[in-house]
Amino acid sequence: MERIVVLTGAGISRESGLDTFRDADGIWSRYDIADVCTPDAFRRDPALVDRFYNDRRAELGRVRPNAAHLALARLEEAARTGQWPGELLIVTQNIDDLHERAGSRNVWHMHGELLRVRCTSCGGTPEWQADCLPHTPCPLCGRPTLRPDVVWFGEIPLHMPRIEAALEACDLFVAIGTSGTVYPAAGFAALVEGHADTLEINQKPSAVSTRFDRFMTGPATRMVPRWVDERLAR
Ligand code: APR
Repeated sequence: MERIVVLTGAGISRESGLDTFRDADGIWSRYDIADVCTPDAFRRDPALVDRFYNDRRAELGRVRPNAAHLALARLEEAARTGQWPGELLIVTQNIDDLHERAGSRNVWHMHGELLRVRCTSCGGTPEWQADCLPHTPCPLCGRPTLRPDVVWFGEIPLHMPRIEAALEACDLFVAIGTSGTVYPAAGFAALVEGHADTLEINQKPSAVSTRFDRFMTGPATRMVPRWVDERLAR
């Protein structure tokens, strides 16, 4: 049985209409990380940070999964039905829900989820679709202490112990649409070196491309279905 861990980044959702962060027209060309994506930013101006995530939440409601998301869901389905004798885990840096909407179930969001908020009083992380404002009460404890359920710079990503265990046990590590500039995700290829094969799918080499055995160049909507077809044909 082949165990595959797929790491996805913003590039897989680009063709659905969601901007990446570091491409020329990316989110960080319009916003400063220090204003919207750190605990300090939220302490300083929670209304600004909430507005940033409210806008992204609204935008998410207007887009749909693309052929790359659907292809990964197809591979997971093939594993479930026994058509493909393997196991697929998606570890995503993305806070969108496009993997789940495409039908993937085995998805770990290491940077959190846009469609949840986190209460800093009771610790709850309820699902959330609408706008969230600094005085919005927590639906679980009633206190006005909600924040976006996303991992900001300087915070520890989620699920790290089980992600590391899955990387240690995998036979193939695939990185799709990520720039390889943000750790710990950018270090995963190095972590599996020596025990797993590695593949990078991107429209251009990432900052850690030299760590990969194989590279498929092109848009995710073309390359990921091609790679999945290849897997299923073996
Ligand atoms: N198909 C394939 N790859 C693409 C496509 C596409 N259509 N469009 C862009 N890419 C690639 C780019 O070449 C780049 O390597 O996607 C990558 C996007 O990189 P980033 O914008 O840096 O996004 P990501 O790697 O996911 O960022 C990591 O940084 O800002 C934080 O928390 C945020 O999770 C995010 C983390």
